Amino acid sequence: GRGGGKLPVIWIETCDSGDNNISFLNTAAPYVDQVFSGMIDLIYSNTFMAAQGADALALLQDALVRAGQGRRRYTLVVEGAIPLGGRGRYAVIAWTPSGPLTAYDAVRWLGKEAEYVVALGTCAAFGGPSAARPNPTESVGVGDVLDRTVINVSGCPVNPDWFVGTLAHLLLYGMPELDERGRPVLFYGSTVHRHCQRRSYFDQKVFAKRLGDRECMFSLGCAGPKTYADCPYRLWVDHVSWPVKANTPCIGCTNPDFPDGSTPFFAP
Ligand code: SF4
Ligand code: F3S
Repeated sequence: GRGGGKLPVIWIETCDSGDNNISFLNTAAPYVDQVFSGMIDLIYSNTFMAAQGADALALLQDALVRAGQGRRRYTLVVEGAIPLGGRGRYAVIAWTPSGPLTAYDAVRWLGKEAEYVVALGTCAAFGGPSAARPNPTESVGVGDVLDRTVINVSGCPVNPDWFVGTLAHLLLYGMPELDERGRPVLFYGSTVHRHCQRRSYFDQKVFAKRLGDRECMFSLGCAGPKTYADCPYRLWVDHVSWPVKANTPCIGCTNPDFPDGSTPFFAP
């Protein structure tokens, strides 16, 4: 642990839909105000900070200088994929006197001095929808542009517990155990299928004929058997429901090949 200190965080948003920061706001254990007041010291975030323009950029530069001097290293959170096409100009973080600071440059630059790097959401972890065919921006995941361990907290969007729980682990215990795709085993250690409440229907080969039926939706294209996440018991939106409970198949949103490997989402 850090002796009661908070986790310094620089949070860069690149190419995603903003769904991950909205999902994060749904955190219920702890609530978002507790995350900001008691858990993390948010140095920079284009969504959650008050500073703008040159003042915001100065905060980034200052954090980098301090970290380079061995003072107060930060955790870099990257939300979204990194576009490589068009010299990276599909995602510009800031305009500096020497030109645009692209997401690619910012992540390479900040990733060097970070204590930990967290890829938030499937776009950041694996490219996700931002890198889906035909991928005109040539987007890739954060791990493809950094030569270091990246903690992949995938999901489209992320479940707030997966993200806040990972930050809590970094704060209290350091690096969590990761699977071979860099995901914390704590949250991604078993398939959706393993703990699904409809599993007994699957085992008895009783399948849904149409959406809304209460039987196993493997017949409708459910990706639960090949998708690693704890949705069936962690649940979503203040721990109330999850896709199968809401009568929709798992579409494999935490997977490295999402969404291309999951389409069509519903079997005809
Ligand atoms: Fe597995 Fe999906 Fe059927 Fe649940 S609904 S038992 S996750 S195939
Ligand atoms: Fe995603 Fe499947 Fe869970 S679509 S939210 S991993 S049930």
